[in-house]
Amino acid sequence: MDAPVSERNRRMMETIEQRIEVLKRERNAIVIAHNYEPDEVQALADFTGDSLELSRKAAALEEETVVFCGVRFMAETAAILAPEKTVLLPDRHAGCPMADMISPEDVRELKAKHPGAAAVCYVNSSAAVKAECDLCCTSSNAAKIVASIPAEREVIFVPDTHLGHHVRSLLDREMVIWDGYCPTHSRIREADVLREKAAHPEAVVMAHPECPEPIRRLADELLSTGQMCAFAKASSAREFVVATERGILYRLRNENPDKRFYSPTARAVCPNMKKIDAEKVLWALEDLKYRVTVPEEIAVRARKAIEAMLALS
Ligand code: 13P
Ligand code: SF4
Repeated sequence: MDAPVSERNRRMMETIEQRIEVLKRERNAIVIAHNYEPDEVQALADFTGDSLELSRKAAALEEETVVFCGVRFMAETAAILAPEKTVLLPDRHAGCPMADMISPEDVRELKAKHPGAAAVCYVNSSAAVKAECDLCCTSSNAAKIVASIPAEREVIFVPDTHLGHHVRSLLDREMVIWDGYCPTHSRIREADVLREKAAHPEAVVMAHPECPEPIRRLADELLSTGQMCAFAKASSAREFVVATERGILYRLRNENPDKRFYSPTARAVCPNMKKIDAEKVLWALEDLKYRVTVPEEIAVRARKAIEAMLALS
């Protein structure tokens, strides 16, 4: 008699994971994943982290090949920092709508309107946009990066309006802020967070700075995904409302089995982060696809902005 479907799926996953392990050794490869990736991808990854942690990892790679489970701008950042390595994005359509909300021409126009301003780009931007900017930042270091710019110099911040306004209020500093946003974080509503707070009055509310202002206002802590993991581990609180993409729950729950984590809404899912699965990781290693490269004339300029960030953080 055939094994039940769940048993067949389990055996198939075992086979996929075993084949991934063999190919990793043959190809001298590592699999790294963002904290929003599907559970099965995080489970097989060698390293999981937020954007800054993944950039740092990419800058110090020992392996020849990296399978980057995340979205395109992250794989591009890895390719810029490790140009001699093979960087693979298992689904070539995994992009970021926020990164697509600004073009290099838009940045050039902003700089022409604000001559002398320092241009800061959130890492969620294309390599070509980074190439137009002086400094890059992630959600975990944005305030520190902007604070490093002399107070008398004007600051242009692209593309995330919410992170930009968060930094502006933290530093109490005027900034020229682009109006891009993350569609996934914009689906988290004030009412969702209020409902979870009422249901779990002892819970600490952690929100990502990509959330719109009403959510940021309700948060006890505004943190990158990596900072959320560190905060939850160190905190004496037992319950947390987590206002960000739901993929982070996998790591939070695994690392803190005695604590409770609540997502305010089932809508907080980034469809691009969910495009990769275990099978696509296997195909990436089998066929060495899809290789992400950045033209050298863009990479040279983008690298300066990313390395300036890494030096400051
Ligand atoms: P961090 O993991 O750096 O907090 O970024 C979140 C994000 O939106 C990545 O796309
Ligand atoms: Fe882009 Fe938002 Fe998805 Fe992050 S969660 S990749 S910012 S759409």
